[in-house]
Amino acid sequence: MLILGIETSCDETAAAVVRDGREILSNVVVSQIDIFAEYGGVIPEVAARSHLEVMLPVIDKALSDASCTWEEIDAIAVTHAPGLLGSLLIGTLTARTLAILHSKPLYAVHHLKSHVYANWLSSDVEIAFPVLALVVSGGHTQILHMPAHNQFEIVGTTRDDAVGECFDKVAKILGLPYPGGPSIANAAIGHNADKYKFPHPKVEGLDFSFSGLKTAVLRSVQQELGLPISHPSHDLKNHLNPEQVADFAASFQKTAVEILCEKLALAQIQYPEVKSVAVAGGVSANQELRIALPNAHFPSPALSGDNGAMVAAACYYEIKSGVKPIDPYSLNIYPRVSIEA
Ligand SMILES: Nc1ncnc2c1ncn2[C@@H]1O[C@H](COP(=O)(O)OP(=O)(O)OP(=O)(O)O)[C@@H](O)[C@H]1O
Ligand SMILES: [Mg+2]
Repeated sequence: MLILGIETSCDETAAAVVRDGREILSNVVVSQIDIFAEYGGVIPEVAARSHLEVMLPVIDKALSDASCTWEEIDAIAVTHAPGLLGSLLIGTLTARTLAILHSKPLYAVHHLKSHVYANWLSSDVEIAFPVLALVVSGGHTQILHMPAHNQFEIVGTTRDDAVGECFDKVAKILGLPYPGGPSIANAAIGHNADKYKFPHPKVEGLDFSFSGLKTAVLRSVQQELGLPISHPSHDLKNHLNPEQVADFAASFQKTAVEILCEKLALAQIQYPEVKSVAVAGGVSANQELRIALPNAHFPSPALSGDNGAMVAAACYYEIKSGVKPIDPYSLNIYPRVSIEA
């Protein structure tokens, strides 16, 4: 079965053709990072307009890279939620229109489900169920219990910031470029991760909290520089030397990875029947997290961030689980805000 996956939930316009949920025939991703690096973050209205410019060429390229015609496509899968409303609209309206034009079944796929399914794309290794999925992305930090394909229960979630968002905000304080995750990871290489100490949040159960870590870094930078807590965060980078930036990046990254691993370990105790751990989302590209979880499954780093292949993979397993296509004429394909079975 060939599925065309379309993804536009944030600042990547992406389309891919995937065979039977595992074999990537094409995977085209146009990122808007260059545009938003200048602003230090995504501007939703600009993101939506950028999607509109490249959406159809991206889909055309995905089909031609896969040497595939519309007749050969069995289904169209599109991210319907969660994400930026304007960005999602471009993808879902495009997918609905193409489904009508080419008479293809249309599936509306949850974005976090897609991130998890990036793990099935990356390897030939069978991932044994039950699975615990650690979703670590720009907008989410969740632990999902997954007893079987296409069955998800959220057992832990962040009460405030997502871990990726925390990487991005700490990078901003340190004057490192957007997106903050890769910038922090690069700056940290070979530097002292024990120089600065940050507290681990005391959140009960499997929930996370990352806003306190971001503030702890801010206060620590102010203290290191001998500046008052009222000193504006946007100016601190002008006082830090490269050595301090690198050590703050390394110390922050170490703490963030420790917090994720501690909660995951707790989840493994609470769900002793679990046979596999799968990490997903943009932060799963982080090398230190990969080193800290040697027995977990990870997507290939290129598939950690947003892409169309993971949408097609998730859709394949939805179809296998008996999920029916949606009516492309219906105005009601989003928002469905939770991960549903
Ligand atoms: N090597 C890395 N280390 C840490 N964080 C990283 C790395 N690479 C990317 N990230 C972070 O991943 C996040 C982007 O991931 P992703 O694209 O999955 O998020 P999103 O799609 O914006 O949010 P969501 O998936 O929750 O809707 C950013 O916060 C980015 O800083
Ligand atoms: Mg994402």
